[in-house]
Amino acid sequence: MNLLITGTSGLLGGRIAEYADSRGDTVFSGYLTHQPTFGLPLKLDITSPQSVSEAFRRARPDVVFHTAAITGVDRCEWERDLALQVNVEGTRNVAEAARDAGAYLVFLSSDYVFDGSKGLYKEDDARNPVNFLGKTKVLAEDAVRSSGARHLVARTSFVFGSREARAEANFALWALRKLKAHAPFRVVSDQFITPTYDRNLVMMLFEAAERRLEGTLHLAGATRLSKYDFAFSIAKFFGLDWEVMIPSSRGEIGWIAERPTDSSLDTSRARALLENKPMEIGESLRRLREEIPG
Ligand SMILES: NC(=O)c1ccc[n+]([C@@H]2O[C@H](COP(=O)([O-])OP(=O)(O)OC[C@H]3O[C@@H](n4cnc5c(N)ncnc54)[C@H](OP(=O)(O)O)[C@@H]3O)[C@@H](O)[C@H]2O)c1
Repeated sequence: MNLLITGTSGLLGGRIAEYADSRGDTVFSGYLTHQPTFGLPLKLDITSPQSVSEAFRRARPDVVFHTAAITGVDRCEWERDLALQVNVEGTRNVAEAARDAGAYLVFLSSDYVFDGSKGLYKEDDARNPVNFLGKTKVLAEDAVRSSGARHLVARTSFVFGSREARAEANFALWALRKLKAHAPFRVVSDQFITPTYDRNLVMMLFEAAERRLEGTLHLAGATRLSKYDFAFSIAKFFGLDWEVMIPSSRGEIGWIAERPTDSSLDTSRARALLENKPMEIGESLRRLREEIPG
């Protein structure tokens, strides 16, 4: 299978490329500034229609995993033009190129399309983002749906794993570093999420892509918990002292962008459809511990 992955230098795109490489797929690894480790590196600026069509000409993909985005929640708030250009117009460029090439597109969207007033959101629940990142994802989902490309909108939530990523993007590694440093640190206790182990997400994404599933699917972890409880579970699994964690409200952290109170995703559709099921947090952390011994 010929694959084109955007955002391969990122947390998730890198994992997708690593797995695709190990399967023997032909992997074109799109990146903007940081050359990725897996697959055939392909410099690609998704905001440029020329750059996108050149990438499609070279890769001739059967399947496109579109993960590239401006993902910093606060960054999207203060760099709104850039967030619109990359997350919305960039996604439109990729979707239209996929349509023209007859490629199947998997677009990575986010739990932040929801306002967080309810939690355990189903695929068809009303979207109502509370921050600009979420707004760009709503517009990007709409651009994919109206592009005419054969597609899946895969919404995920709070991805973690052993792969280094942009500062704090990988909460598990961030929390582990803090816990090992044994100095007190704040963790938010009034925000609820469905943490998603990256390798589990990759397996679900590949199965969905191989079966060419279409529409919208929530591909996330199976356990809803607060960020504090997630960090607490990490401490327990790694045998670290959790008492250095200070439970804090979102207000005490001083973020710029609003965070939804409970953006956890209901993954029952994925559980019913897929052989690779959304993983419970205990199993995810057990596997993470095997990846990061000591
Ligand atoms: N991580 C999560 O917890 C989470 C949760 C929900 C949804 N998602 C979604 O999943 C996807 C992947 O997230 P992630 O955490 O893996 O992202 P990430 O680590 O922040 O990586 C973002 C990637 O986008 C690339 N990029 C930025 N601007 C670009 C442009 N103009 N043209 C081409 N590439 C560009 C970056 O390339 P360079 O580094 O080379 O500049 C980088 O590879 C995103 O769509 C995100 O919204 C993630």
